[in-house]
Amino acid sequence: MTAITEFVDLDRRRRVAVLTVNNPPVNALSHGVRLGLRDGIRQTSADREVDAIVIVCAGRTFIAGADITEFGKPPREPGLHEVLDLIEGAPKPVVAAIHGTALGGGLEVTLACHYRVGVKSARFGLPEVKLGLLPGAGGTQRLPRVVGVQKALQMIVSGDPIGADDALKNGLIDEIVDGDLTAAGVAFAEKVVREKRPLRKIRDMDEKVAAVRGKPEVFAEFRKSVARQVRGFRAPENCIRAVEAAVDLPFARGLERERELFLELLNSPESKAQRYFFFAEREAAKIPDVPADTPAREIKKAAVIGAGTMGGGIAMNFANAGIPVTVVEMARDALDRGLGVVRKNYEATASRGRLTKEDVERRMGLITGTTDFNAVGDADIVIEAVFEEMPVKKEVFAKLDGICKPDAVLATNTSTLDVNEIASATRRPESVIGTHFFSPANVMRLLENVRGARSSKTTVATAMALGRRIGKVPVLVGVCHGFVGNRMLHQRGRESEKLMLEGAPLHQMDKVLVDFGFPMGPFAMSDMAGLDVGWRIRKGRGVTSPVADRICELGRFGQKTGAGYFKYESGDRTPKPDPVVEQIIADVAREGGIERRQISDQEILERLLYPMVNEGAKILDEGIAIRASDIDVIWVYGYGWPVYRGGPMFWADQIGLETIRDRMLELQRKSGDEWAPAPLLNRLADQGKGFLTL
Ligand SMILES: NC(=O)c1ccc[n+]([C@@H]2O[C@H](COP(=O)([O-])OP(=O)(O)OC[C@H]3O[C@@H](n4cnc5c(N)ncnc54)[C@H](O)[C@@H]3O)[C@@H](O)[C@H]2O)c1
Repeated sequence: MTAITEFVDLDRRRRVAVLTVNNPPVNALSHGVRLGLRDGIRQTSADREVDAIVIVCAGRTFIAGADITEFGKPPREPGLHEVLDLIEGAPKPVVAAIHGTALGGGLEVTLACHYRVGVKSARFGLPEVKLGLLPGAGGTQRLPRVVGVQKALQMIVSGDPIGADDALKNGLIDEIVDGDLTAAGVAFAEKVVREKRPLRKIRDMDEKVAAVRGKPEVFAEFRKSVARQVRGFRAPENCIRAVEAAVDLPFARGLERERELFLELLNSPESKAQRYFFFAEREAAKIPDVPADTPAREIKKAAVIGAGTMGGGIAMNFANAGIPVTVVEMARDALDRGLGVVRKNYEATASRGRLTKEDVERRMGLITGTTDFNAVGDADIVIEAVFEEMPVKKEVFAKLDGICKPDAVLATNTSTLDVNEIASATRRPESVIGTHFFSPANVMRLLENVRGARSSKTTVATAMALGRRIGKVPVLVGVCHGFVGNRMLHQRGRESEKLMLEGAPLHQMDKVLVDFGFPMGPFAMSDMAGLDVGWRIRKGRGVTSPVADRICELGRFGQKTGAGYFKYESGDRTPKPDPVVEQIIADVAREGGIERRQISDQEILERLLYPMVNEGAKILDEGIAIRASDIDVIWVYGYGWPVYRGGPMFWADQIGLETIRDRMLELQRKSGDEWAPAPLLNRLADQGKGFLTL
């Protein structure tokens, strides 16, 4: 074996040259890899002792994409295009032997090869769209030529990888191989040589793209089928246009078009935000004083207290991850009801073909219901999801303290209560932490882990590791009312009530936020969630919300009663403005002596989102969030903030903190000190800096 570069080795097996890429952890296409492939192909192309070339990767995967640390830096020769041209133009067969994931640039490397084989577990994808980009090294031109336009559109626009069987069926790979991959790749290459198979260059294949030439309806239909998922994103449309170019233009011109469309995206605010967010999500896993090697408790068994809306969903997370979980309820009927909902959820997923009947039974089999608290004694983590009342929570934690094994983590799903006070009900506050799931808990990806004043590093590490294991995006926050997400949401809610009284129609406010990129407006959302829960809580606490209370007094609880903030035709979930509600709002405004006027979309947007940004600044200053980007991760995964706008703090930086601060000062003069800019916002605005410079 000789090293061509630090990352690429050359070996010979009989008359086949093997180029092995070894750039841990994911064999990214760093400069040294590109250089090694280029020189390796040159050298072996010229070697008369070599009949064929195999490209294979060491470690856990084939090349899984570009080296993202090179993003935004000046390009270094050779570029990927040059390497791919060399591979495709090689005078002898080049075979890619694939394991793990061939992603992005990695898949584009294989598409330049003349043949591809892969192991059964290999996966193949072009995920660039998820960073707001498109595959810019010929992927949009070669993939449709090999798998057909429909399949290529699906893969490029979704960014989701496909498995080996699917790849074989669609002609993306030539064979599924097993045993030693290098040996299998070499054997396949020898077969190609022996059978004198042609140097199959995808660039010259026309049949599959010719099949849709002159049929624009294929693209029109595809656009229609993805319209909802891609709303607001820029990259999917450019991906589609690039595939159109593969159909309509000769290969070389298609590549030029791909380049143009790629550059357009590279410079777009959407892609900038999406690439920022990609790193933000990874950053959120890092906790300065809890390094990655902090020992976490191993979770072999879990328990959930309460089988209500949240408890059932939380239990599903454990079962989905293969972790046995005991669910404790106060009474048999509540337990049966709760577990019944869980089963119904699984069965609904199965009826959509996304789980088998056996999966449903296996998962239900991992969930054990009981009314006996003592059954949680051997759980490694207990998550409490009982009523949101401090005395109830404290009673539960005191009980858990007496029952749970000494090294168990005791977690609370509280959304508003003080985690430190809950912890004080035990003799082991170091083992107590908040794990704030979002509803529906089996679906929403965000997990706000709430670090108490005395939570130990092991407890923190355990909650973070658990979050990842059950497929969530855990973000660590500190104790305060509403934590990060709901505390900021509260600001938006407060201002939306003022806006409605001042004359902004509910549907206008909803539309402003939907146009901004949220999946739903706040009022349609409340109607979907149900207005009665909040009403009952308000009554219990003796607080009022004049408009919402009057709506509930009419028995209008939202979608489930056919009316709430909006009205709904039966069988239709489209919210329609309702004069009854408009009258209620007008009455409340008149009683409060509030003058009503038309309000512009821009004013609505500023008044709904700037207070959130301001609260985010306070949260940062107080150390409740570790970094500004964590706040953005919370808002994207927990509240549907559009990822192509990065998150509230990133978005604020794009607008400019001085602009936001000055607008807040103006509103402060008009409407009072609620609009006083947070000290951190002021400071950064004065310095001409952004939150992400902190
Ligand atoms: N619903 C949400 O959207 C949401 C979101 C995040 C967090 N939370 C929090 O999650 C917790 C649970 O909320 P929920 O919406 O699931 O409430 P829920 O009323 O639907 O369920 C609570 C369940 O706990 C059971 N319970 C009450 N006391 C108990 C006890 N001592 N022992 C065992 N079981 C007991 C009740 O019988 C009920 O089934 C609350 O702290 C809430 O603030 C709720």
